[in-house]
Amino acid sequence: MPTPLLAGNWKLNGARNEARALAEAVAKGCEDVDDREVMIAPTFTALCAVARVLDGTKVKLGGQNLYWEDSGAFTGEVSGPMLAETGCSYVIIGHSERRQFFGDTDYSVAKKVGAAHKAGLAPVLCVGETLEQRENGATLGIVETQLRHGLVNLPQQGYGALVVAYEPVWAIGTGETATPEQAEEVHSAIRGILESILDGEKAAGVRILYGGSVKPSNIDELMACPNINGALVGGASLDAEDFLSIVHYQES
Ligand code: 13P
Repeated sequence: MPTPLLAGNWKLNGARNEARALAEAVAKGCEDVDDREVMIAPTFTALCAVARVLDGTKVKLGGQNLYWEDSGAFTGEVSGPMLAETGCSYVIIGHSERRQFFGDTDYSVAKKVGAAHKAGLAPVLCVGETLEQRENGATLGIVETQLRHGLVNLPQQGYGALVVAYEPVWAIGTGETATPEQAEEVHSAIRGILESILDGEKAAGVRILYGGSVKPSNIDELMACPNINGALVGGASLDAEDFLSIVHYQES
């Protein structure tokens, strides 16, 4: 079983002082954690401050996005090497909010996954269906397309660091979580797709996170599912107490 990963996606929240205080509280609360990994992804402008707080702690740093060129005339963008030199070891790619509001597509997501690998960052590739797609019975097809297309630029040796996050769009920020059965159905399909790309042992080592209204009250039942290897947490990661109770979920 891969080491579980509990990750906080702070989205567009946390000005620098707030971010620093939240990171300090998370790092302190994770001092006793050794059988799971914890990552937080602040905004770009808070990365340096948070990196200083996390230095020497057990909590890893992640970016929320990147551009695939290393440098050049690309106003407003941040590259993989820049994230890496800031102290990031992870980068979230293809979050549904980026696909919905900022034009990310399977094509650009694939370029970003390749760039993350090249920069030595572990890509957290997000996939997930909308409510309409779920109601039309298209969930597994959508997730398979996003996953297979998202991975086209990842060489075989990049799969050891890969993290996939299944985030049903209808569950993000709505308070409505996928049931463990709904989540496990998609997670096991994702595992099957990974098995068709990689050999079995390597596919079993890829962490598949669930995201979408994860809270202290539902993390235990989600983590009890065989193919759920962690969580990507939005709203609840902005509250140190809630995030730390998610990190300290009870194993069944
Ligand atoms: P919420 O936990 O706020 O639903 O957000 C999930 C998410 O989008 C994490 O990336």
